[in-house]
Amino acid sequence: MKLDIEDYKKVIKDRMSKKRYIHSINVAKAGIQLAERYGADVEKVRIAGILHDITKEMPYDEQLKIIQSSGIILDDVQAFSPKTWHAVSGSICVRKELGITDDDILNAIRYHTSGRAGMSLLEKVIFVADFIGEERDYKGVDVMRAKAKKSLEEAMLYGVSFSIEDLTQRQCAIDKNTFELYNELIIQGEEIKKRKK
Ligand SMILES: [Fe+2]
Ligand SMILES: [Fe+2]
Repeated sequence: MKLDIEDYKKVIKDRMSKKRYIHSINVAKAGIQLAERYGADVEKVRIAGILHDITKEMPYDEQLKIIQSSGIILDDVQAFSPKTWHAVSGSICVRKELGITDDDILNAIRYHTSGRAGMSLLEKVIFVADFIGEERDYKGVDVMRAKAKKSLEEAMLYGVSFSIEDLTQRQCAIDKNTFELYNELIIQGEEIKKRKK
């Protein structure tokens, strides 16, 4: 039986608090606006947005089991940061339990927290949408929303810088994928500036 978006909404509703359910709906909504602006696949964005935090409220030991049974090996930093596991366990869960096989959707979920260098358009849209959903109210969200209207990459640089700053302030370990994304955005930004000169 093929599942549709209403089925996906039901699945996540049963697995999370109301607050996180609303967040998931808002990420899909914000993502669709970005998809329309930047030409990403609206249906894939809707699915990835709804499902991106599917395992966020699952106990860590269960998430770890899902990850280990899939054969994915976490590096030391990832193993040290249980809060980030839901991105990896979520991508495995939607593949195994919901039968989603589209690699782009799976990667958008897998890298929505850390980011990575070489992200696809869909991955970028979900990464940015997670920062700008309607309920978000952190300091700087207005800047982030304005940047998202101008350029996905500018918004990503702002978001990833914000995350790195926050993680260093709290003395948390930082995934190498996050640094690789940051470096890529800086280098690409410089290239674009040079070309404009
Ligand atoms: Fe998340
Ligand atoms: Fe999220």
